[in-house]
Formats: sequence, structure tokens, C-alpha cells
Amino acid sequence: ALVSMRELLDHAALNGYGIPAFNVNNLEQVQAVMSAAHEVGAPVILQASAGARKYAGEPFVKHLIEAAIETWPNVPLVMHQDHGQSPDVCRGAIDLGFSSVMMDGSLQADGKTIASYDYNVEVTQKVADMAHRVGVTVEGELGMLGSLETMRGDKEDGHGTDATMTRDQLLTDPEQAADFVKRTQIDALAIAIGTSHGAYKFTRKPTGDILAIDRIKEIHRRIPNTHLVMHGSSSVPQNLLEEIRKYGGAMKETYGVPVEEIQEAIKHGVRKINIDTDIRLAMTAAIRKFFFENPEKFDPREYLKPAREAAKAIARQRYVEFGCEGQG
Ligand code: G3H
Ligand code: 13P
Ligand code: NA
Ligand code: ZN
Repeated sequence: ALVSMRELLDHAALNGYGIPAFNVNNLEQVQAVMSAAHEVGAPVILQASAGARKYAGEPFVKHLIEAAIETWPNVPLVMHQDHGQSPDVCRGAIDLGFSSVMMDGSLQADGKTIASYDYNVEVTQKVADMAHRVGVTVEGELGMLGSLETMRGDKEDGHGTDATMTRDQLLTDPEQAADFVKRTQIDALAIAIGTSHGAYKFTRKPTGDILAIDRIKEIHRRIPNTHLVMHGSSSVPQNLLEEIRKYGGAMKETYGVPVEEIQEAIKHGVRKINIDTDIRLAMTAAIRKFFFENPEKFDPREYLKPAREAAKAIARQRYVEFGCEGQG
């Protein structure tokens, strides 16, 4: 059943767990996440980016999720707009039937220029007013995602900026977060702590200087009733990188966000953990392996099946690791 994200996050806070929010773009990814959740009894957040809506087309995004609800009626499901770039995009998602939207006002509507704090407050407030009237949950973002190793912003897979930034810009300020939440009345706040989107987050296994879990603790102490959201939270498993390389892929050395760091963050107010890259890596590894071992095969169902299984395995693992088992 379609539920409100606020309801799911409140339950997660009360019971001390976190919910992975998986990005989906196609049939196999929706099925993978839903069947994993069904098996372990987890609540589901499926999120679609602007890129997903463009890739699949809005009717397909909508109806894939409706098909998921019809197939797994007992799994509580949130349909969330990821990184809405403007109030118009968020309104479009609400009209399409989404139960939750993210207004990402950290960037201007062009998706490139760093926005002022006042701009972020204004657009986020506008979305919260509009969304709350119809029972839709709102996630805002404060601070710029980006690397504390290179001090560059995160291009967010094509949108965003890779401008050079200061450490202050790359870490959400707890006082400003308190002001932001008070003025916008958002339900959940995405914070910047040194993570970035995509596979290339860290050049080494991250330590506290480049992955600021302590900052989460400070923010949570200041705004204990706001659900925190971690973007760029794929763990980039080394075994998947090795498999991709073994079967002909060319991925460079890289490190993601260790699961144990996410588990620590969950103890300090993080309730929604965004994951896209890990599912991409799992599917790619499975498809490369399949073609390497079966060069004569050409039926898409034959290679998409192991890809779907691999995506399901990662989703299932994260549900268990983040404490979602039996919480749906
Ligand atoms: O925002 C980043 C998510 O990984 C979505 O990626 O914009 O390529 O769909 P995308
Ligand atoms: P990853 O690229 O780490 O999977 O992050 C996804 C994300 O934050 C989507 O909003
Ligand atoms: Na952003
Ligand atoms: Zn994100």
C-alpha cells in the first residue's frame, strides 16, 4: 500500500532503524527491491530522479509503482521524487501521485549554480506549504554534497557543480539546519557530510576527516525531531568492482560509505539512506559475468534475470543491515 514517508520515518525513529531509499528506473529494479522487502518484511522507499522520469517516461514510473503495490499489497511503500530541482518539478510529482518529494534547493533551478541560503529557504518553504496541504512529505537539502578529499562539489550524475568549495560549504552547519527546518517546516533534511553521488566517492576507505559522521551527531543534537537523510550512501562493495573488472569492465580503484558508518549514523537520527550506485554495480557485474560465460546468448530475459537477482541481494542485505527486518 502507498503510505506517507513521514509515517515511515516516524516509525523508524521510534524504533531506531534506518530505511534505504533505492533509486529505480525500470521494471527489474522495482521488482528486485520489492521482492527483497517482501522477503524480509521491510518498508520500502522507491525514488525516481528527474533522469528516471526522463528514461522511463512518467506514465511508466507511475504504473511500475502501481504494479508493485498491486503485486505486494502488504508492503508499505513510499513513492518519492528524488532531487526535485524546482517547486514546479515537485508539483508535477505530486500530480503524478508521489507520496513524498525532495525539494533540492541547494542548487538553483538550472541544476548547476550554487543557490543562496535565502533561495533555498524560499523554494523549500513553498514546496512544504503546497505538499503538506495534500499530505505529501517533504525532504529538503542544506549544504553541498561533495568530497572533503578534493574539496570539490558533487556533479550528481550530470547535474550539480564541481566547483571548488570550502570545508564549511561541504558540511551542513547545525545552527543553520535548525533555522532551515524551523522556517521551512520540512519533514526530513538531507545533510552534507562528505559523501557524493556515484561510484567515485573516496580514494581510500574513509576515516572521520573525509566522512564526517561526527557532524551528524551535532546536527541530531540540535534538531532531534528532524529525520536526517544521507545521500551518496552506496557502499561500493569491493567484490562487485572486482567482478566487473574480471569480466571486462574498467572501473578504477574507489571506496564508498562503509555499512558500519551508516549503522553509526542510524544511531544518531539518520532515517533515510539513499542508494543508487550499489544496485547499478550489482546489475552490471551480473550482466558482464553472464555475457562472459554465455557469449552465444541473446535473450534479454536471460541476462536481466541474474541482474535482477543481484540487485535483490544487495537490497535485501541493506534492509537487514539497517534494521528494517520485520518493520514493514
Ligand atoms: O541523484 C542521483 C541519483 O543517483 C540519481 O541518478 O540522476 O542518474 O538518475 P540519475
Ligand atoms: P549513490 O550514488 O551513493 O548510490 O547515492 C544515490 C543518491 O544519493 C540518490 O539521491
Ligand atoms: Na544537492
Ligand atoms: Zn542524492
